[in-house]
Amino acid sequence: MIPTPHIEVRNKDEIAKTVLMPGDPLRAKFIADTFLTDVKQFNSVRNIFGYTGNYKGRRISVMASGMGMPSIGIYSYELFKFYDVENIVRIGSCGGYTPDVKLYDVILAKDAWSESSYAKVQGGYEGDTIEGSPELNQKLINAANELGIPIHIERIHSSDVFYRENSGEYKEIFKKHGCVAVEMEAFALFHNAKVLGKNAACLLTVSDNLETREETTAEERQNSFTNMMKIALELAE
Ligand code: ADE
Repeated sequence: MIPTPHIEVRNKDEIAKTVLMPGDPLRAKFIADTFLTDVKQFNSVRNIFGYTGNYKGRRISVMASGMGMPSIGIYSYELFKFYDVENIVRIGSCGGYTPDVKLYDVILAKDAWSESSYAKVQGGYEGDTIEGSPELNQKLINAANELGIPIHIERIHSSDVFYRENSGEYKEIFKKHGCVAVEMEAFALFHNAKVLGKNAACLLTVSDNLETREETTAEERQNSFTNMMKIALELAE
């Protein structure tokens, strides 16, 4: 069933086995422009840009996920199920819940806790925590070590809501569930990988901290998350 409703590729070979997924289409373009050679754009439906190219002579794709679990749920499902993609690594930003994770620190999500209904509605999963792929995580840890980039390996919170009326709720989520940071996609991505027998991981760069109230600008976020990108790009095959 290709092309699919949200990805316009006619030949599966146009997409590599490993896809990096930033939320922002312009970040996908930045990665392709900055790090890849022999780049071919394979998707522009809804401006969700997707590119395949070579990194250090090895093939990899990068495609935006959009924001939130419904969005990454659609794109990651189509990539895994219909385009033979084996590995998806989300590379995104997150808000720190504790001063221990500082602006621009990189976090590898050991697992994602969520109050979202995504996994229950999609596949009847009753739990509230889903692991990333231990194999992909080990490869990312090895890459980070080789590059000399320190990473935190922690539980994260995948939230459906960016603006909460109870703005102090994160303190409770940190204490009760051990989540050190919040983003909005990993839980759905990890669930899709699980039900489809594929691999998913999530690397995050801290863009703001709810406890210290530090934050980066949109421009800094778009261009300066290169440490996380370099780690993930090492998965090119
Ligand atoms: N991504 C980056 N910062 C975030 C925050 N504060 N909440 C949810 N997702 C985020």
